[in-house]
Amino acid sequence: MDFLSATLSRVKPSPTIAMTAKATELKAAGRDVIGLSAGEPDFDTPQNIKDAAVAAIAAGKTKYTAPDGIPELKQAICTKMKRDHGLDYTPAQVSVGTGGKQTLYNALMATLNEGDEVIIPAPYWVSYPDMVLLAGGTPVIVETSLESSFKLTAEQLEAAITPNTKWFIFNSPSNPTGAGYSREQLKALTDVLMRHPHVWVMTDDMYEHLAYDDFEFCTPAQVEPGLYERTLTCNGVSKAYAMTGWRIGYAAGPVELIRAMRKVQSQSTSNPCSVSQWAAVEALNGTQDFLAPNNEKFVRRRDIAVSMLSAIDGVTCPTPEGAFYVYPSIAGLIGKTTPKGTAISTDEDFAIALLEEADVAIVFGAAFGLSPNFRVSYATSDEALTEACKRIQNFCASLT
Ligand SMILES: Cc1ncc(COP(=O)(O)O)c(C=O)c1O
Repeated sequence: MDFLSATLSRVKPSPTIAMTAKATELKAAGRDVIGLSAGEPDFDTPQNIKDAAVAAIAAGKTKYTAPDGIPELKQAICTKMKRDHGLDYTPAQVSVGTGGKQTLYNALMATLNEGDEVIIPAPYWVSYPDMVLLAGGTPVIVETSLESSFKLTAEQLEAAITPNTKWFIFNSPSNPTGAGYSREQLKALTDVLMRHPHVWVMTDDMYEHLAYDDFEFCTPAQVEPGLYERTLTCNGVSKAYAMTGWRIGYAAGPVELIRAMRKVQSQSTSNPCSVSQWAAVEALNGTQDFLAPNNEKFVRRRDIAVSMLSAIDGVTCPTPEGAFYVYPSIAGLIGKTTPKGTAISTDEDFAIALLEEADVAIVFGAAFGLSPNFRVSYATSDEALTEACKRIQNFCASLT
């Protein structure tokens, strides 16, 4: 349609949202579908956070705020950055947006020109390449592998950098693999970046608190202080605080960049919801006690998913360090046929057949740029997860 912009034609709708919508549609039609496709915790938002929101409404904190956040929230973010990572930021170096997604988008919109390249390791969170395209840049996808536990190596990063590279997008623990970079693994990457002063780092720390076993989260500017001046550290309250619907994300970085991001936001959405901002102040400043019990549940579910999926012939499922996803390979199932006669030639065929013939919704690997795999989100009850994994086992066993 000529009426639509050329930019839009380069972008695809979010496949994770599409898979969840298809599962919802089948459920509404009466099918007993188990959804393992949505990227959100099944826990409720903690009570103290809800109470802070109710108090904000009662106190009339329901008006426009500064476009990129109230001073109280910016201060809470500075305090958090110092407490958790030893990083010093002032409120002028902080931007609050409507979800983590908006802050990442603002930063790309504020900085990309035609010809600018953005390095994105695959598999990646579905929105990175499309946001880069919307902002007029060029995504440079670098595929990782099962063998490197889906982590980018220093050699790969070095080889991907060109004079046109503007940003390197880094995400640990990762959506969709759950892979978390150790300090040493991250240091190997930051050493490369130190040799290329024109490359900026956009780190997406959204799953910071969802780190398991003895994995210790760290962020690039903490591992390599020399990168502080060209790092945008992005985070949000959506995942760890079970606040996906409240829509609060934030970023900390150089003042000039933060100012440019505010300009984008002030001419698009203006401030994020005032009530949600007050709730986020409580999330960051209040008790963090619920994180550990939530993580215990996540670890148990991760172990259920890994052990049940690894038991399937043709499936390889590594154990990730964090987030609430596993990303098994189905290389051993490609070329097979379902009982209803559907050929499994790609991971998309697998995902569609699994939904239609076994009532389990997952997301196919092609959506995240690395195939043949699928992503399971284990942020659901132990019972639903176990039943879904049984169905996946039976479905895979039925392939010929
Ligand atoms: C890696 C990653 N970054 C950012 C986001 C966006 O989070 P928000 O819901 O706060 O926009 C998500 C959500 O799925 C994510 O997985």
